[in-house]
Amino acid sequence: MAEPKENVLMEKITSLCKRRGFIFQSSEIYGGIQGFWDYGPLGAELKRNVKEAWWTTMTRLRDDVVGLEATIIMHPKIWEASGHVATFADPMSTCRQCKKLVRSDQIWDMIPENAWAQAIAELCPSGSVESPRLFNWAKGKGKHLAPNLALVRNPEVTLSFLAERVNAPGALPLTTKELYQYLATDQFNATGLMNPCPHCGGELTPPRPFNLMFKSHYGPVESDENVCYLRPETAQAIFAQFKNVHETARQKVPFGIAQMGKAFRNEVTPRNYTFRSREFEQMELEFFIAPDEAIEAVTGAVATPAAKGHPGEPQPNWGWQMWHQYWVEERIKFYAGIGLPRTTLEEYWQKPEELAHYARACVDILFKFPFGTQELEGIAARSDFDLSQHERCSGKPMGVFEEELRTAFSKLPPEKQTALKERYYQARLKYLTKMGVEVAKAGAEAQEDADGLAKGQYIPHVIEPSAGVDRLILALLANAFTEITETDAKGKSETRVVMKFHPRIAPIKVAVLPLLKNKPELANKARAIFESLRPQMMAYHDEAGSIGRRYARQDEAGTPFCVTVDFETFEGVKDGPQAGVKDTVTLRHRDDGRQERIAISELLPWLLARVR
Ligand code: GAP
Repeated sequence: MAEPKENVLMEKITSLCKRRGFIFQSSEIYGGIQGFWDYGPLGAELKRNVKEAWWTTMTRLRDDVVGLEATIIMHPKIWEASGHVATFADPMSTCRQCKKLVRSDQIWDMIPENAWAQAIAELCPSGSVESPRLFNWAKGKGKHLAPNLALVRNPEVTLSFLAERVNAPGALPLTTKELYQYLATDQFNATGLMNPCPHCGGELTPPRPFNLMFKSHYGPVESDENVCYLRPETAQAIFAQFKNVHETARQKVPFGIAQMGKAFRNEVTPRNYTFRSREFEQMELEFFIAPDEAIEAVTGAVATPAAKGHPGEPQPNWGWQMWHQYWVEERIKFYAGIGLPRTTLEEYWQKPEELAHYARACVDILFKFPFGTQELEGIAARSDFDLSQHERCSGKPMGVFEEELRTAFSKLPPEKQTALKERYYQARLKYLTKMGVEVAKAGAEAQEDADGLAKGQYIPHVIEPSAGVDRLILALLANAFTEITETDAKGKSETRVVMKFHPRIAPIKVAVLPLLKNKPELANKARAIFESLRPQMMAYHDEAGSIGRRYARQDEAGTPFCVTVDFETFEGVKDGPQAGVKDTVTLRHRDDGRQERIAISELLPWLLARVR
């Protein structure tokens, strides 16, 4: 349950985002559209910087990753092969009274956010049951706040069920969830107590699956033959283009393909601002590695993680576990490099029962958002499931051939060959039977795959670090948001916001300000400095208002540095070690308000070293 204090913080962040042009509601002039958000001038720069940082880190600075930019609409068979058509669904309930749709697994996150539930929590503090107060509430305010709650519709019966439960011999204290369930129940259904609709307290239908993909048609005719989907993830295009990229990019496994771009999910209940949207952006890497059996054949033994932490530079004997740990650590390093140190993140290792059937491991990187600690990115070891699926469904081979593997395999002792082939056979058999291939056929295919391994062929496995741009933007906004209270000489206190973004992702890197607008000498010089900086970085020029106000405006925008042209620029520095030196400006640091003088000629390299 989100703390009220934290919701206040969330409100402050959303209001700043609107006021300063980071994020607006999509189609606001028509009342908005739920789950869709636009980025304003500052937000667009912030987002661009985040994506640029990811792309540079994940592709340009690496020898072993290349990029891809695929279409949003792809052949519908891709989504059949990936499993999205059959299983990409959330459980959904409908309120029988207000008709609103609710994601069934989010009901208990949503209930405490609503006024009726908060009122009940206040009436019954710390698990106590205050029946007379509940009765009065049901007859009064409850009618407006939760008109369809059983307590409001039928207080006598509901409260009698509740009393029976509370007064039963040896009864355990009620949990908050149980209390809400009792207050939603005036007749027991097949499963016992009812779950209330978070919006009106009404009765919810049992959950049923709701596919999250946005469906459309390509071409002029709307028929089953030309159904298509807006992609719900960027990853599948990478798998579908694996062969083309492998053949053209002169890369050998292990190597990765990175893509970022729009993804669409028709979320049942988009919520928590941009955290769960219907249109969002992803930054995904599919890093292809050899199966452990191939690594063992070539190097003699597969290295597995000996300790927590970064395992260092990749080695030829790394199996999937080393690569998985490597990518978890690389991603944490990336976040630290843009202002989210490890202390702001948590790692959640999914339990075996939580993993998708094909996944060997998955680590969620979590951030403490104001509404709770939630996933920012998932790093999954997905075995060879994805390429295998596309090979089976398209009929096109997705495997690779390695001469080094063929040679190494042929030199292994026969018992080692047999053991490795058997392990590979079992893994392939497990996958094929899981996908419904008939047993005899699966056995024959798995045998072919095992024979192929001995000849240097295999289907690559994959490690997938998959991050959401919008969630990261929200995390960066929450992390940067800082309120400071200042008291002036007259004792008057004022609280203002400083957005402490890392300079690398800050929307505006530097603001250039003349101390006074009406002094042409100062104004012209400031304009000239601004013009010299803007081709290199996002710079801003502001002449309006007192210098204190302009600094405050830049603090709110998260600009790490302000440069002020003042009289000392022309007359020479007044005192200190630089006394008498001309052509300097005041450089102000956002985070501590510190000011220093810097030569105009040194400004560009000084800034570039900090903002790139
Ligand atoms: N290819 C794997 C995949 O798509 P996912 O966990 O469903 O995995 C990856 O999504 C990331 O995409 C999430 O960690 C999150 O950052 C982002 N994401 C997913 N659904 C989202 C939504 N509805 N709104 C905003 N971001 C979302």
